[in-house]
Amino acid sequence: MAKADDLHRFLRTRRSIRRFRPDPVPDAVIERILVTAAHAPSAHNTQPWRFVLVAPASSGRTRLAEALTSALRGDMTAAGAPQAEIEARMARSVRRINEAPVLILLCRDVTAVRENKRQDEVMAIQSVANAATYLLLAAHAEGLGGNWICWPLYAQAETRAALDLPETWEPQAMLFLGYPDETPGEKALKPMEEVVRRVG
Ligand SMILES: Cc1cc2nc3c(=O)[nH]c(=O)nc-3n(C[C@H](O)[C@H](O)[C@H](O)COP(=O)(O)O)c2cc1C
Repeated sequence: MAKADDLHRFLRTRRSIRRFRPDPVPDAVIERILVTAAHAPSAHNTQPWRFVLVAPASSGRTRLAEALTSALRGDMTAAGAPQAEIEARMARSVRRINEAPVLILLCRDVTAVRENKRQDEVMAIQSVANAATYLLLAAHAEGLGGNWICWPLYAQAETRAALDLPETWEPQAMLFLGYPDETPGEKALKPMEEVVRRVG
């Protein structure tokens, strides 16, 4: 068993990685990461997470990129962004989707709730977020870097349709994984006094 100090260091050194080496990630490694992610805690053990692996250089990647960029293009056009800015953003976003060695769309199965109250929905979303964090930490354990992308939240129906997913699978996030090709700079952490309050 890892010593507590080692484990704290491991947890504190996970960072978002946005540039990857092109090296493929072995299937066995991806499988191990997914199994660990599926061990995350969930409200009432409902395990509402669903993982969609979208293969590199596949038609699925192309369809996903088209769905996400057309939604973004619509939003940016409606907001009055200049055409050149829209095109540059589209090109950058498509490149990132295509270049990620591993792309996992993380969904919530909306039927995986104990009751249909607002609080159950919140707990399910919190549970899916736990799976994402476990997944990123499992990737870190494998020497991989990862990045959580919220984009599918802005195009849930389009994303579901593009990947032919069940109606009950609600896209929540996209995770890019790969061997790191960057070392992030120091992260500014809020002082503990700001984020912790002790009540006697
Ligand atoms: C809910 C959530 C949504 C995020 N969405 C994005 C995103 O769309 N694009 C991105 O580059 N990073 C995204 N991130 C990563 C954060 O920017 C990152 O975790 C934060 O800046 C702290 O840096 P660190 O992960 O290196 O510790 C997201 C993280 C979370 C938890």
